[in-house]
Amino acid sequence: MPEILITNACFATMTDPAGYGLRDNAGLLVVDDKISWIGDMIDCPDIEAVTHIDCEGRLVTPGLIDCHTHLVYGGDRADEFEQRLEGLSYEDIAARGGGIRSTVTATRETSEAELLRLAKPRFEQLLSEGVTTLEIKSGYGLDSENEIKMLRVAKKLGEQYGVRVMKTFLGAHAVPEQYIGKQDDYISLVCDQMLPQAQHEDLVDAVDVFIESIAFNHAQAQRVFETSKALGLPVKAHAEQLSSLGGAVLAAEFNALSVDHIEYLAEEDVAKLANTVAVLLPGAFYVLGETCLPPIAALRKNDIPIAIATDCNPGSSPLHSILLTMNLACILFGLTPSEALRGVTINAARALGLQNSVGSLQAGKQADLVIWDVEKPSMLAYQIGLNPCAAVMQAGQWRKFPDGGFA
Ligand code: NIG
Ligand code: FE
Repeated sequence: MPEILITNACFATMTDPAGYGLRDNAGLLVVDDKISWIGDMIDCPDIEAVTHIDCEGRLVTPGLIDCHTHLVYGGDRADEFEQRLEGLSYEDIAARGGGIRSTVTATRETSEAELLRLAKPRFEQLLSEGVTTLEIKSGYGLDSENEIKMLRVAKKLGEQYGVRVMKTFLGAHAVPEQYIGKQDDYISLVCDQMLPQAQHEDLVDAVDVFIESIAFNHAQAQRVFETSKALGLPVKAHAEQLSSLGGAVLAAEFNALSVDHIEYLAEEDVAKLANTVAVLLPGAFYVLGETCLPPIAALRKNDIPIAIATDCNPGSSPLHSILLTMNLACILFGLTPSEALRGVTINAARALGLQNSVGSLQAGKQADLVIWDVEKPSMLAYQIGLNPCAAVMQAGQWRKFPDGGFA
């Protein structure tokens, strides 16, 4: 039975809902793919046949979790980046047929093999910063064939790298060209064909809807949520990103795993989000030059778990760094470094429905962990552009380990 004992580390267990759950002078024992014990060294179980890793005081955290990405896509949107800097807004560009729809055209034209090749460097970049679980959405296909193509690529990425990938169906991301003015017909297609087909191929862990003036309204989102519920699939929403349409509250009524963006969520509605997770996406806020801040104080007051994610996508958030996302969340949204770390560990796990298996260092959980070349957890959100990731364990296997240990 492979056993690995990790000692002499500063463990940020992430088991404290208001802090890091720090444990010094502790040990952590991995047996097979699980954490079998974490505690004071004095209580360490019989450890004859183990590999011993002395971390020499380094920080150990759970593997990081990026709970909201759109990293499988064709083409790029660098031209729109230029247009926005010349004064056009994200909505202006969408109204002219650009935005998400331009990525849809490019993604439809790209083969599955090519989409996989294009996604690999984005994926590898996230993994290099200690990400062990991530979510990937469809939403640039907008028909059965192309949505399924995207989800297959997401699945293959997980399989090829041995990383946990959660696949989210986002067929209701934008209105395809030929359905403009016939949004309800497109929603029928999503509910009657696209989603059931994707689920039939076992490619759907959750269902997301973009509820916004440039996408789908409350009633249309409700139809997608009802269909998802009937299929036994959990839901999520892109809501209150650019305006306030009541999408987050609607999603919460359907027991959404998460409501994402929520810059325009009214403070008085925050209490209605109990039992869901607020996923904040500072990359999109930053890139789109938003000024309306999410209701952070109300989220804290109402004890709504806050997660943060890269939202990695070619338009609103071409961001491939979970560590920079943590820094942006602190600087732009005023999160504390411990909120930022909970946002990419235990609360991100909750946003994916995985809180019982990953997101914290606790006996019984998957042995997904990162050893960092720093001594305290605030360093992760504080430093910009430096990657102190020294070693990554995924399900009890070293995915990255410095040759010769830490000598
Ligand atoms: O999370 N808001 C909608 N969806 C993405 C943007 C996708 C895109 O611009 O291509 C987001 O910001
Ligand atoms: Fe998104």
